[in-house]
Amino acid sequence: MDQSKTPVLDALAAYHAAGQTPFTPPGHKQGRGADPRVRAVLGDDVFRSDVLATSGLDDRTSSHRVVEEAQELMADAVGADHAFFSTCGSSLSVKSAMLSVAGPHEKLLVGRDAHKSVVSGLILCGIRPVWVEPQWDAERHLAHPPSADAFEAAFEDHPEARGALVTTPTPYGTCSDLPAIAEVCHRRRKPLIVDEAWGAHLPFHPDLPTWAMDAGADVCVTSVHKMGSGLEQSSVFHLQGDLVAPEVLKSREDLLGTTSPSVLVYAALDGWRRQMTEHGRNLYDHALALAADLRDRIDGIDGMHVHGRPDFCGPGKANDLDPLQITIDISDWQTTGYTAADWLRTHHRVNLHLADHRRISAQLTHADDQQTAKILLTALRDLAAHAPELRSGPRVDVPPPAELRLEQAALPRDAFFGPTEQVPCERAEGRIAAEMLTPYPPGIPAVLPGERLTGAVLAYLRTGVQAGMVLPDAVDTQATSIRVLRRH
Ligand SMILES: Cc1ncc(COP(=O)(O)O)c(C=O)c1O
Repeated sequence: MDQSKTPVLDALAAYHAAGQTPFTPPGHKQGRGADPRVRAVLGDDVFRSDVLATSGLDDRTSSHRVVEEAQELMADAVGADHAFFSTCGSSLSVKSAMLSVAGPHEKLLVGRDAHKSVVSGLILCGIRPVWVEPQWDAERHLAHPPSADAFEAAFEDHPEARGALVTTPTPYGTCSDLPAIAEVCHRRRKPLIVDEAWGAHLPFHPDLPTWAMDAGADVCVTSVHKMGSGLEQSSVFHLQGDLVAPEVLKSREDLLGTTSPSVLVYAALDGWRRQMTEHGRNLYDHALALAADLRDRIDGIDGMHVHGRPDFCGPGKANDLDPLQITIDISDWQTTGYTAADWLRTHHRVNLHLADHRRISAQLTHADDQQTAKILLTALRDLAAHAPELRSGPRVDVPPPAELRLEQAALPRDAFFGPTEQVPCERAEGRIAAEMLTPYPPGIPAVLPGERLTGAVLAYLRTGVQAGMVLPDAVDTQATSIRVLRRH
């Protein structure tokens, strides 16, 4: 296909050129009705291009196939059979994918390091998860994606499972052995869903980890706003092969999606695809070189250690690493990543990607350059110079991996929608959780509905919150009390 084409951007330009007058939503009517104080901050162009998708960007019957053609170009660009745009993030895309593969009470193999949106999918659909253990690095207190052997064993125990879902890359940039996991699934003619929210850029450079469609996945979900040039909430999910029917995937998306998709989001997706097909190789040549240089320099800062392939990859660990995610261990300083990240924002106006009990991480993309690299380095060097001052904060009680794993005592849906009560944290041990408790970022639930709470995990969350961990989805975000299933 002609990858220089941009159907959405062209249709938007034509809409403006034709001087269309909307008697439709959005009610701001291209900004004319928006408060000038809002326009002063957002800019007039945001409103001007915020038009309706049908009877706006395209005509009433979408006869120009504007969005369809943009999706076909996207699929062609990355070697998928089909691509679907979503304006509700990977949070929606991943649910659409799950609902295409398993229905209520059916089993799905899911890596336990899944994002909270996957758990939401289990709750909404009533899918029975068969948890597949991630590969724990006990020394560094970090989980890498599950191995192919773990999926093989889970299928042997649960041959009726409808398919498998794996998250790769993780927010730390570590990747699973996708070809091997795909082989395990396909030997049984079961589909593999890949939550590749952090991997929208992978198709566009050979030195980046293998992208899910090349590795043989059936459905793969990407957040283009995370690593690409999409606007926030933009996501594309891709499909290939014959294990999931495109009309099924589309109808599941239709069930969950908005009837008012943002044309702004579509337009940015369209432009990103053209940018990547024309300039991706060159842009990632630069980004990868910048990342390699920055990794060396940051690793040279006293008290900072940058995790590279030797730490994260190898037998029993991850298969590959996206070097654009720069994960820095600062445990030598006896402080937390939360304290360090807050200090960097306060003192240098630098915002980091992840912070946990012993690490911070910086996400680079094709948009970074020597100037932003210098800002980061200057801030990190200053952080190192102030490290002794950061020491006084509270510590997090991080249990060993085996103690972090909880028994799934009830279906996530049954626990979430069952009769619940709020109990003080000290009385929650042994009870069945009826909510997700998710340190954010990265958004992997430490506890999910239906899991039996242990003292070790409760202590981890309580001390975590005291040290700066954020638990946005808990009813009580301070974790002084927990929502649990009422006893009969
Ligand atoms: C692994 C993973 N999957 C899915 C999502 C959801 O993506 P979005 O924010 O685009 O809805 C995230 C978000 O952080 C994620 O980390």
